Amino acid sequence: MARVTTTGARTPFIAGNWKLNLDHLQSIAFVQKLAWSLKDARLDFNEVEVAVFPPFTDLRSVQTLISADKLPLKFGAQDLSEHDSGAYTGEISGAFLKALDCQYVIIGHSERRTLHNEGDDVVAAKTAAAVRHGLVPVVCVGETAEDLEKHGPSAVPVAQLKAAIAGLTAGTDIVVAYEPVWAIGSGQAATPEQAEQVAVQLRAVVADLLGQEAADATRILYGGSVKSGNIAGFMREPNVDGALVGGASLDIPEFSSIIRFQKHVGV
Ligand code: 13P
Repeated sequence: MARVTTTGARTPFIAGNWKLNLDHLQSIAFVQKLAWSLKDARLDFNEVEVAVFPPFTDLRSVQTLISADKLPLKFGAQDLSEHDSGAYTGEISGAFLKALDCQYVIIGHSERRTLHNEGDDVVAAKTAAAVRHGLVPVVCVGETAEDLEKHGPSAVPVAQLKAAIAGLTAGTDIVVAYEPVWAIGSGQAATPEQAEQVAVQLRAVVADLLGQEAADATRILYGGSVKSGNIAGFMREPNVDGALVGGASLDIPEFSSIIRFQKHVGV
């Protein structure tokens, strides 16, 4: 598990959440071009882990391409069912994702919490399902603008994370994504200081529930209007270990530049 770099630090993790964009043919062209762009730029994949999260229907194509061309990219799904099999029309089992070599799965994205009414109980059940099938859950938490005004930045993300991981065994490998709802797709990112402040609290939750060793190894990402122009600020914060990128992950030069944050900002 590439959770630490050669220097023993947590490996930065830059993830692209494609949401409902790119069909399976487009996904092949996109991943090929992204890999070429990173190769041209001589990216050291030991120093940053890169993952894409395409729609379900693209996963088989992405898997085949990455495996055939031995591309140093990871991939995962954007959601999974809390159930393993059965009469659940339209659902996708963690077992199916594992069979496609998915390593990660996004859980509890604010768009699923809001548009699909997924509460903390569903998020916890999906997190458990991911772990049960050997997938690393990328657990998303974040406050709305109203929560921010009422409770400050940390209270809601902290409560959401506690609910999501309370049932996991100590030492479980997870990724946490702090995505303030008001920052998603708005062009208005949080400040690096706010992301750091919340990341510190989230790491404390991981330490409490999964143990200090897991907390030290867990990557905590920031998401919400991340671009090449603001990634450096986030990556300079000691507790922010990467980014979950939406819109900007669909633009190859822009996403490639975010991935190469170390080169262009000298962090
Ligand atoms: P944007 O980067 O488009 O703000 O989206 C963030 C996000 O929701 C990633 O999961």
